[in-house]
Amino acid sequence: MQETESIRVGICGLGTVGGGTLELLRANRLEISDRLGKEVVVSHVATRTLKPELTQDIATIGTDPLAVASDPNVDILVETIGGCDIAFELIATALAKGKQVVTANKALIAERGNELFVLAEKHRVNLAFESSVGGGIPVIRALREGLAANEIQWLAGIINGTGNFILTEMAEKQREFSEVLKQAQKLGYAEADPAFDVEGIDAAHKLTIMASIVFGIPLQFDKVYMEGISHITPHDISYADELGYCIKHLGIAQRSERGMELRVHPTLLSRSRLLASVNGVGNAVLVNGNRVGSTLYYGPGAGAEATASSVVADIIDIARQQAAGAVEPVCPALGYRNYSNKLPVLTIEDIESEYYLRIPAMDRLGVMARISSVLQSQSINIEAVIQKESSSKNVPIVILTHKVKERNLNQALATLEALEEVTGSITRIRVESFHSGTA
Ligand code: HSE
Repeated sequence: MQETESIRVGICGLGTVGGGTLELLRANRLEISDRLGKEVVVSHVATRTLKPELTQDIATIGTDPLAVASDPNVDILVETIGGCDIAFELIATALAKGKQVVTANKALIAERGNELFVLAEKHRVNLAFESSVGGGIPVIRALREGLAANEIQWLAGIINGTGNFILTEMAEKQREFSEVLKQAQKLGYAEADPAFDVEGIDAAHKLTIMASIVFGIPLQFDKVYMEGISHITPHDISYADELGYCIKHLGIAQRSERGMELRVHPTLLSRSRLLASVNGVGNAVLVNGNRVGSTLYYGPGAGAEATASSVVADIIDIARQQAAGAVEPVCPALGYRNYSNKLPVLTIEDIESEYYLRIPAMDRLGVMARISSVLQSQSINIEAVIQKESSSKNVPIVILTHKVKERNLNQALATLEALEEVTGSITRIRVESFHSGTA
């Protein structure tokens, strides 16, 4: 990046995040130039849909993002197109041309970041991605810099705003899943394909990125166990409530002597946890370091302004590094240089958890005894049971178990579902079990 009077930014993609970034740079122009001692000017925009109301003062407007990547008058390229195809080519081209890059693209970083960071390192430029996780919360900086002195034991986060918004509305207002999803889309929280939000893909992308930073491992999206919220019913929310829990979609990265766990799934969370009060589009990441203990990062996890706040923070950071004559080195494990001897990532069958089970069963003599005996055969200890009176012949039996290996639970559930008295498939939700004494 050459030494110029101002920092010249090219934004590729003027959707929610790109448009928000342009507006934020305009609205906080004086504040930002005061901080930097230089102006940040959006000189180029590439957009499929022209938005004259947004771009009236931009010098170069076009439809080809690769032209922005190749333009010598662009210092920092901001990629807000999304997806993995054009965005990959665009970023790879910009890095190869020696441009600094800022991206909000969690899918791209999680799935192809290993290749891109090698390129960034080769060309001695930055590929900054704060906005890829947690919207406006500076969680990437907290993990990489603020907690750098610690060995991280585990982290657990509410990292999809749309999913959290849906679960909160379902719990508080007994609204239908599909109706709340439509509202989240209108508010600009949801991904272009909302399956990314409700099936856990978006959270898995974000967890992949955080796990790579805190454990010093390559980005391994394909190893993350993924489960979404689309099968959660208002009944489950209400039974969980009766047992003292709420249901949150969590991303969990945890290390033990046996290996590392990378998983995203709905989770019963004790209502006494701080995370349990993170509602709506809010995101929060709880991180346990071996020296500092637990720290919690909370804020708006989605939406134009929040995400733009992190994009612009990256622009400012890069401009500052450039002014100081340094470019932070990046590498595939996002902060570690030696990750060859790390533990393996465990499969979901190898994890241990407590479980919430909702078993649809016939209301007949001996049912509870049969269910208990199947659970006992797999050494599954029951912690709590709810069985309501029912006017129909079918009753849901809700059970909380003590800790058990998921493989054993699967065997027990297969045996239970084959019983004549069990009338449908069993719902299973993992129960949080972070160390006691944490937020
Ligand atoms: N769809 C994402 C969410 C946007 O709801 O969290 C922010 O990454």
